[in-house]
Amino acid sequence: MERFYTCNCYFRDNIFLEEYKLHVRFVSESQFRDDYQNILRSLGCVSESQFRDVIGKIHAEIERRQNYKLKSAERAATIKEIYKPLHQHVYHLQESFLAPELLQMVKHCASTDATVEGLMKLIQTEAGELLLYSCSNLNRLTIKSWEINHINNNNNNNNNNKNLFTLYFAAPRVFRFPVFRKEFCNDLIEELEHFEQSDAPKGRPNTMNNYGILLNELGFDESFITPLREVYLRPLTALLYSDCGGSCLDSHKAFVVKYAMREDLELCYHYDNAEVTLNVSLGKDFTEGNLFFGGMRQVPLSETECVEVEHHVTEGLLHRGQHMHGALPISSGTRWNLIIWMRASRERNKLCPMCGKRPTLVESYGFSDGFTMDPDTSRNVSCSLT
Ligand SMILES: [Fe+2]
Repeated sequence: MERFYTCNCYFRDNIFLEEYKLHVRFVSESQFRDDYQNILRSLGCVSESQFRDVIGKIHAEIERRQNYKLKSAERAATIKEIYKPLHQHVYHLQESFLAPELLQMVKHCASTDATVEGLMKLIQTEAGELLLYSCSNLNRLTIKSWEINHINNNNNNNNNNKNLFTLYFAAPRVFRFPVFRKEFCNDLIEELEHFEQSDAPKGRPNTMNNYGILLNELGFDESFITPLREVYLRPLTALLYSDCGGSCLDSHKAFVVKYAMREDLELCYHYDNAEVTLNVSLGKDFTEGNLFFGGMRQVPLSETECVEVEHHVTEGLLHRGQHMHGALPISSGTRWNLIIWMRASRERNKLCPMCGKRPTLVESYGFSDGFTMDPDTSRNVSCSLT
């Protein structure tokens, strides 16, 4: 396997302060004070002890990130040694796990006359009520009637088309389609719950989700996620996102996140460390908890309106990693989602999607953050942290 790297910005940028719902950059305490003390004050962090508490949390997060390579490899080794799976079969991707609709789409993409339009016709959506959100306060506003009329008039009241185009206009380039069969989703959740209840060590899926499982540590990468990405997803992304690395996705980070009433309920507005993301709703039973999409990362929040997108069990939402989004709170039950952040080294080697600069490479574990060394970037390798 090709060697993959992380960008050095991982150790100082995009540190999420959960209490204040704020992403920060930390280089030194004086820089941090200059950049964030006023913002934090406006968010309720007013006393020196509260500020010290924030600094403590940042140091703990940076330490977690610095130890990640070693700890993740240790956890994977321990899991392999002590964990006995409940459903061994779910670790090996089989075509019978996949929804017939997805197989149709992949077949279309493999044909010589494959087109974006042809693929779009196969993406049947059942978009229900679409709601616009104002991101600054998340107040619900019903979708503007002129938009509905415009869409209806342009699509001859054909229901499938109307729904497809409603979603397409409201959340550009977000696609929703069935990914797995229900029986597979049930088996996978049973396996994840079995792992969750075991004594095996567990890593946190990302900096914003507290509950979930890193699928590479559990042993899903080689026999499940990699063939899913290469054989079934890349043909779709090559057509839909050729301008943002969709045709050359060569690594991923895959994890499941769990939302439950006494655990995480929702996920704040963010962008992903990915060129293209697939988010599949696996179940179990829950109410609410839809996703919402705003603008691309570069669009100011004040100019953004968000749209809520329904997400049904077995379905995936495919979107660009830099397309800002979040998850609304569930109101009951437990919700498991499979997230695959797909990366294209050819794209990110030019510009790190997290810091927006040319990456400075640091060695890490497995697919790391999907950067590769090439003649152009070799001079950017950092010696201090390798
Ligand atoms: Fe995300």
